[in-house]
Amino acid sequence: MIDFFRRHLGAKLFLSYLVVILVGAIVLGLATRFTVPEAFNSHMGLGMGLGLGNGQGMMQETGTGKTAVLDLFNSFQASFNEALLLALLAAGVVAILVSLLLSRGVVAPVRVLTAASQRIADGHYTERVNSTGSDELGQLAHSFNQMAEKLEQVESMRRQLIGDVSHELRTPLTAIKGSMEGLMDGVLPATSEIYQQIHQEADRLARLVDDLQELSRVEAGAYPLDMRPLAISTLVQTTLKRFVAQVRVKGIEIISDLPADLPPVLADQDRITQVLTNLVGNALQYTPEGGKVTIRAIRHGGEIHLAVIDTGIGIPAEHIPHLFTRFYRVDKSRSRQAGGGSGIGLTIARHLVEAHGGRIWAESDGEGQGSTFTFSLKAAE
Ligand SMILES: Nc1ncnc2c1ncn2[C@@H]1O[C@H](COP(=O)(O)OP(=O)(O)O)[C@@H](O)[C@H]1O
Ligand SMILES: [Mg+2]
Repeated sequence: MIDFFRRHLGAKLFLSYLVVILVGAIVLGLATRFTVPEAFNSHMGLGMGLGLGNGQGMMQETGTGKTAVLDLFNSFQASFNEALLLALLAAGVVAILVSLLLSRGVVAPVRVLTAASQRIADGHYTERVNSTGSDELGQLAHSFNQMAEKLEQVESMRRQLIGDVSHELRTPLTAIKGSMEGLMDGVLPATSEIYQQIHQEADRLARLVDDLQELSRVEAGAYPLDMRPLAISTLVQTTLKRFVAQVRVKGIEIISDLPADLPPVLADQDRITQVLTNLVGNALQYTPEGGKVTIRAIRHGGEIHLAVIDTGIGIPAEHIPHLFTRFYRVDKSRSRQAGGGSGIGLTIARHLVEAHGGRIWAESDGEGQGSTFTFSLKAAE
């Protein structure tokens, strides 16, 4: 019995109504017991001293008139009690009906939510519930749907990631395997060129794995930021030192355009150098011989904008919004031939810049028109 009440919302509601009704009836009963004789007195006897109240003086005077009044009072009390009992019964029936109706209204949506969450737990992430009500249940349904949507997104991202990673791994692996088979069957000549090709593909695999590891680290935010005031010129110099050989081989002119009165920025030196390295590396990679790469810093209020501007192959407008998505490359085959990476570099850069509270964006006037990648950092004032 207790278990029944514990498990059914409707029974609990009914119980609470019952308590309210009973308390009401008891209070009413007590109140009438104490007030009715007084009121009866004053209405019937009007100061005749019937002495009905509280038994005092009840027996003092006797008389037929008074006995009649007493009888009247007793039958009044009896009929009052009867009415009270009837009212109690009626209230009980109403309580049952109302608690049934209300619990239906509450229990039905809760049941729907329970079933939906069960389905989500079973992996059906498209499950949604009707969230039209504006009461707490409606809000619950609304947040439930939001949660389901987030879960669905995470799940589809996970699937996409696994698909992308296997695809990225397969391409160099297939190339290595093909070359090795050719060598073993004697179809391919064992020249240093072939070995170099194989080595290149293995190198690509190694870089991909490194990039993935770095990506998972920055996506999880699993690195401490050592924020200090840093001079932009030092950051730029450190970055450019890494590209000295590449710049000389490719014959690209590098210009750093940094105003003299630039305030320092508040940033983690290693991380921002990593961002700059990614951007300058891309600029060099996607700029043909004889081109120009400019690193420019501009002050914007409390922010410093650092831009890497190249005169390279440019980016068609429709690709620009996707550049910072992982594995996104404008032209996969060309990027591969150009010795490009796997399309993770800009994703890592975006995560790092956002961890600093900054933004990163790309601009280009289109194919062959060069590109500009800019990110913002807070000035250390
Ligand atoms: N400076 C640039 N000029 C033209 N295209 C660029 C430039 N930087 C990046 N891109 C495009 O954005 C894509 C993603 O860049 P990134 O994330 O660094 O990957 P990748 O490993 O291919 O360099 C590149 O494949 C390229 O198509
Ligand atoms: Mg890159």
